[in-house]
Amino acid sequence: MAKTRKAKGITQGLTNYGDNAFSAYMRRSFARSMGYSTEMLKKPVVGITATASNFNNCHRNVPEQIEAVKRGVLAAGGLPMDFPTVSLGEVFLTPTSLMFRNLMSMDVEEMIRAQPMDAVVLVGGCDKTVPALLMGALSAGRPAIQQIVGPMMTNRFRGERLGACTDCRRFWAQFRAGKVTQAEIEAVEGGLATTAGTCPVMGTASTMASITEALGMCLPGTAAIPAVHGDRLRAAEASGARAVAMIEEGLTPDKIVTPKSVENALRVLLAIGGSTNAIVHLTAIAGRMGIPISLDRLNAISDETPVLIDLKPTGDHYMEDLFFGGGVGAVLRELKPLLHLDCLTVAGETLGERLAREDGAWADPTVVRPVSNPMRENGGLVALFGNLAPNGAILKRSAADPSLFESEGRAVVFSSLEDMAARGDSDDLDVKPGDFLVLQNAGPKAIGMPEAGYLPIPAKLARQGVKDMVRISDARMSGTAFGTIVLHISPEAAVGGPLALVRNGDRIRLSVAQRRIELMVDDAELARRKSAWKPFTALDNKRGYGKLYFDHVLQAEDGCDFDFLRATR
Ligand code: FES
Repeated sequence: MAKTRKAKGITQGLTNYGDNAFSAYMRRSFARSMGYSTEMLKKPVVGITATASNFNNCHRNVPEQIEAVKRGVLAAGGLPMDFPTVSLGEVFLTPTSLMFRNLMSMDVEEMIRAQPMDAVVLVGGCDKTVPALLMGALSAGRPAIQQIVGPMMTNRFRGERLGACTDCRRFWAQFRAGKVTQAEIEAVEGGLATTAGTCPVMGTASTMASITEALGMCLPGTAAIPAVHGDRLRAAEASGARAVAMIEEGLTPDKIVTPKSVENALRVLLAIGGSTNAIVHLTAIAGRMGIPISLDRLNAISDETPVLIDLKPTGDHYMEDLFFGGGVGAVLRELKPLLHLDCLTVAGETLGERLAREDGAWADPTVVRPVSNPMRENGGLVALFGNLAPNGAILKRSAADPSLFESEGRAVVFSSLEDMAARGDSDDLDVKPGDFLVLQNAGPKAIGMPEAGYLPIPAKLARQGVKDMVRISDARMSGTAFGTIVLHISPEAAVGGPLALVRNGDRIRLSVAQRRIELMVDDAELARRKSAWKPFTALDNKRGYGKLYFDHVLQAEDGCDFDFLRATR
């Protein structure tokens, strides 16, 4: 590859004192107070994002990974310097981690740009961390490589494998249905997440890791390595060394994240039966390079891409099985005829060169199915349109009940999360099997678009053994969840989308075959209801980040990014 960029080192981007020589002298002097020699301060600088905190269990071994990255940078002749950035622990944030993804991306972008680094290694793994790191680094434009934190290992409960969070939900549903005792649910609580690393099913974190590899932004073969495996540290060391080489090569993210590599990532998202959240994040990531993702294109790719991965929540296995079974590389090899092979990766080779190198490599067909024997003939996600979702909605068909795909039901409406919490389990709730549960005002501007789209089956139906119902909302759903769940309805109810106009007893028709979600109420009645509609938000949107978020967040089809952060191409 042609060398196009020289390292600028520690004295790039000087603090503005009106005298550049003085500024450089001051910086060197202060850097030397940290014990660096003059020789070290002449080397290319590789920044490393430190995303660990006591509020993020998944990232608890990030410090160890950073040490390995540093080893790689030093061995390759660079100067490693880690710096703290926002740490988004998925279950430690309110109202929802998605609300803070853009804050983290802004922090990452600005700190890469403001601090003197020639390249950056992005260490992170939790649901919003990887998207935020990539969004920030893409906007900053310096050579960047993602070091995925890696999935946690599974545990055992009475001989059964346990892994967050598909099994969290499975046991919780059984507890709600009275089939698991208080003592048992407490034992399960203590065993769901036992090692460092991210949720070990094909939830959002694992999906983002997998599509990062498909996008070309992490080293080949590294997405699925367990967080606590020695190979994870070797990957960190290699990422550090590679970051130094990328400086000389001028290998910036705009050469890697292109319309073709985004389409590769989208295809892998569908082939792994990945999380619905990933479509929001991939849209936001691509949007930073001015690359649009159309939901119609998603449907077209979904129709021609089989689901190959047998992982929870849609299958039986866990991420450690994917790692031992061939990793994301095995999926890419199966999909080879459908991929753009001329896409460059952070390794400095094309995807085609990588796959040629791996030709004939072993894979476990029980975990990564061959194209000739897929889990499903078509992709895991589909976009729906109709008068209830003029700008689109998403259904994870690979995690849904096909018997509900062509169905019509009576709406049982909850006007907010609070309303659902107050009435959802009431024995007085007028709800029957076959009804469609509708949740309003859970979208981006209403409450930060929480993962509340997995509406619990009302307790009285759960006790009768009802396991799935059509559930509709403008919220998101955890990638670890399952059910016939229509999500990301856009425009959201809080800004006056048609979802706000649904009333108890309305009829709604779902057709996955036709990609439609229709509210069967005539236009005149909808107009009458709209005239009485009022905007809604439960956010503190009067000051600070809450105001910035509320004023600028876009809807799901634009990745819920801020309007002023997206690039135009
Ligand atoms: Fe960190 Fe699931 S909570 S990845």
